[in-house]
Amino acid sequence: MAEGDAADRFITVIPEIEMPGHSQAVVSAYPELGVTTEPVEPRRNWGVSPYLLNARPETIAFMQNVLAEVLELFPGPWIHIGGDEAVKTQWRASAEIQARIKELGLKDEDALQSWFIQQMDTYLTSKKRRLIGWDEILEGGLAENATVMAWRGVNHAVSAAREGNDAVLTPTSHTYFDYYQSKDTVREPLAIGGFLPLDRVYSWEPMPPGLEPALEKHILGVQAQLWTEYMPNPKAVEYMAYPRLTALAEVAWSAPARKDFDDFRTRLATHLERLRILDVAFRPLDPK
Ligand code: ACM
Repeated sequence: MAEGDAADRFITVIPEIEMPGHSQAVVSAYPELGVTTEPVEPRRNWGVSPYLLNARPETIAFMQNVLAEVLELFPGPWIHIGGDEAVKTQWRASAEIQARIKELGLKDEDALQSWFIQQMDTYLTSKKRRLIGWDEILEGGLAENATVMAWRGVNHAVSAAREGNDAVLTPTSHTYFDYYQSKDTVREPLAIGGFLPLDRVYSWEPMPPGLEPALEKHILGVQAQLWTEYMPNPKAVEYMAYPRLTALAEVAWSAPARKDFDDFRTRLATHLERLRILDVAFRPLDPK
């Protein structure tokens, strides 16, 4: 291990290769992987692209081959295959895709996505790695060894756990750090929207209500999301990450009875001083 590796700092980097949606760039570069034959430019602005991958055997092989390269670069056990926001408009409109759904004996487009992800799950499992995907991978049937990142709501983590699969809690309600930290948005850097102040992050009790205690072992932890469409440089990223990330760390590590926001805020003063010395551009606290 080279000094300075992530592993040296007990960090596991999980790469994400999106499929079958959020795939406009790859369809642009390799039109034969797409659903429609017309040429398309890579996307230059954020949002959800309608361009999906097709489900030909060659496309599955191509994506598995991409994963093969990724496995060489990332030694950790987890590989993320995306799976989110794959709007099925192109799949619904394509005679080839509809014929493929019939040929595979599947019910609909959701089942085809599930089949697609299953091909990646089988591949990654054969390489002794574990597939992770966003919670849309529950739709149409969850792949056997998949772990779910529950972003649209922790109920999706409950569904995964009840199927015997693991889940990571990543809900927009408490872990999307691209959301505004204040309602006074004119005084904040431009952000995607939303409202997620420090105290709301801290107030979160992550274990999903209603989850049977015997299934809690399937909840692997929590994750903050920092999509950077509106963050032009690393300092802007730091402003959105801190100090909310310190609150999320305490959420993840603390028993509910031990949590106290006022106490956290008092202790945070020391930590903010540390961040200041490290030149981290954290967002200053609002006056009490
Ligand atoms: C997501 O925010 N689309 C996972």
